[in-house]
Amino acid sequence: MNILAIESSCDETAAAIISGDPFSNTKKPHILSNVVVSQIDIFKAYGGVIPEVAARSHLEAILPVIHQAFKDANLTKNGQDNWDEIDAIAVTHTPGLLGSLLVGTLTARVLAILHQKPLYAIHHLKSHIYANWLETENLPDFPLLSLVISGGHTQIIYMKAHNQFEIIGTTLDDAVGECFDKVAKILGLPYPGGPAIAKAASGLIIDAATEKTTKVSPGDSQKYPLPHPNIKNYDFSFSGLKTAVLRAVQKAVNVPISTPSHELKNLLSDQQKADFAASFEETACDILLKKLEKAFRDYSETKSIVIAGGVSANQRLREKSPQEAYFPAPCFSGDNAAMVGAAAFYEIAAKVEPTDSYSLNILPRSVIN
Ligand code: KG4
Ligand code: ZN
Repeated sequence: MNILAIESSCDETAAAIISGDPFSNTKKPHILSNVVVSQIDIFKAYGGVIPEVAARSHLEAILPVIHQAFKDANLTKNGQDNWDEIDAIAVTHTPGLLGSLLVGTLTARVLAILHQKPLYAIHHLKSHIYANWLETENLPDFPLLSLVISGGHTQIIYMKAHNQFEIIGTTLDDAVGECFDKVAKILGLPYPGGPAIAKAASGLIIDAATEKTTKVSPGDSQKYPLPHPNIKNYDFSFSGLKTAVLRAVQKAVNVPISTPSHELKNLLSDQQKADFAASFEETACDILLKKLEKAFRDYSETKSIVIAGGVSANQRLREKSPQEAYFPAPCFSGDNAAMVGAAAFYEIAAKVEPTDSYSLNILPRSVIN
């Protein structure tokens, strides 16, 4: 069975073709093609995503990206997409940016109707989790705990079995990825903040305005102690950490707390930026892992820990995580369509009914279920 998967929930336009037999004993999806066109270069100039611009870019990219997925999978006939080879279509329909979701979802609906294929509507966080079932020998065992960490979400999800999700912890304010992005802005590092903070912590400072890279000593993660929030159970809070960085930077450069955050980057030395990046990265990782380890202790029947979402690309987090934790290959941490196909593969394996292509709606906000 071949599944064409489409993802356009934020600022990546992506299509993939996933292959495999969902009814075999081994039940493993394989990637025939995986095309991701990122809009990062557009949004670097603005320091963040502009929803209207993202939707327009998706519109321009989506059909060429799908065609490229057919070509890379060798599923073309006389240069045309060979729809005889496709058995199902999967698309991210929630959550995400309204205009961005609309482009992918409407494209998938039209293609499903036109070519008479079943359509699977996939939740974005579910697909992030299922990135851990892609191209790996070792599949996670159930029941499992998943830490989903992205630009929009920070959740601990308990999964008794495939397709069963119970959110046991969530952020009360900002997502951890959002916090990386905001701290990067304070330090004058480029968008997206996650990779820029990680580089700065290793001593490579990229200036957001000039894109010039300067090399300093690796950041000292103990230089600026930052507080952990005092939140009960498995919930998170990251807005306080962002403010704590802001106050620590103001203190380090000797300015009053009324000083606007955009003035601070010019007052910091590159070495201070590296030290702040390392101190922040270390604290953010510790906050995430402390909660995850608490959940792992309390849910004692848990067999696997699965980490997913854009922030799971973070190398320091990978080093500090329990050895047995599963991570996606770094190229599948961020938004892509292969993970959407993997999620659909396991829905098909569980005989989940396809959605109605004539009425599928998008939902900018929703919880995983
Ligand atoms: O999953 P994702 O690609 O998109 C959403 O669903 O939000 O996650 C994007 C987030 C951004 O906030 C970005 O800064 C963060 O993931 N990120 C990282 C790293 N790479 C991306 N955060 C920390 N370390 C990284 N290496
Ligand atoms: Zn995502």
